[in-house]
Amino acid sequence: MPKTRAARAVLLGSILALCSLSSLSWASDKGKALYALCSSCHGFKGEGNEAVGAPVIDGLPEWYLITQLVKFKDGIRAGHPRDLYGHKMRPMARSLTEEDIKIVSAYVAARPKPAVKETVQGRIVDGEAKFQVCVACHGTKAEGNQNLGAPPLAGANDWYLLRQLKNFKGKVRGGDPTRDVFGGQMQGISAALDDDAMVNVVTYINSLK
Ligand code: HEC
Ligand code: HEC
Repeated sequence: MPKTRAARAVLLGSILALCSLSSLSWASDKGKALYALCSSCHGFKGEGNEAVGAPVIDGLPEWYLITQLVKFKDGIRAGHPRDLYGHKMRPMARSLTEEDIKIVSAYVAARPKPAVKETVQGRIVDGEAKFQVCVACHGTKAEGNQNLGAPPLAGANDWYLLRQLKNFKGKVRGGDPTRDVFGGQMQGISAALDDDAMVNVVTYINSLK
């Protein structure tokens, strides 16, 4: 045993450091194991999978991932009977504990944003004009704004963005603003867009990557 008080303090310090290191690596091992479940639908490079309808999630902000996973778990998102794609995601979220949600969200957020394929071709100039409404919450580069609960849209799969705009408009997502305050905010916004305007605005968002 070390004799001096200083030597004891050093020993205690290294034991504490070792403990926190091992709990850190436990969290990232757990994050990796949980992420393996996500990959089967969201794509093995995290790039999204259109056939399954699962969008890119890698590199989304941790706060947004947590919010959405909790909403899926509680049925605030994907509670609507017509939310076919949301229903594929909901059982996964329900199987996660609150602790799992925090761990996997930190893991996913720390992964680099992958490049996504563009699949939508609209009129970019018209889209830019429509996008001026979105700037207030999503930012000029569609980078998102945590204070307003608005996620980044740049770098997302265009087919996924289109589906969400249609879901908001049809009240399939955010249809109950008493339970989903942030989702409810997209209601009026999406109602003002017809199919053509949605394609154009998403084409413009593609250019912001
Ligand atoms: C069985 C397939 C499946 C699995 C497994 C799955 N997801 Fe999903 N996920 C989906 C689908 C489909 C959507 C799109 C839902 C929609 O269109 O509203 C989605 C949407 C999401 C969203 C919303 C993204 C956004 O921009 O709002 C998040 C976050 C998410 N998934 C995280 C995860 C995580 C984390 C895991 C692993 C723990 C996971 N998912 C596993 C199918 C799956
Ligand atoms: C008043 C603020 C506000 C404005 C203006 C706004 N949004 Fe949103 N948007 C939000 C919030 C908040 C969310 C997150 C909803 C949630 O938590 O489910 C969101 C979510 C979205 C999503 C879903 C993203 C995902 O990953 O699932 C899309 C797509 C979207 N907005 C597109 C747009 C477009 C396009 C415009 C402009 C035409 C726009 N928004 C204008 C606040 C806004």
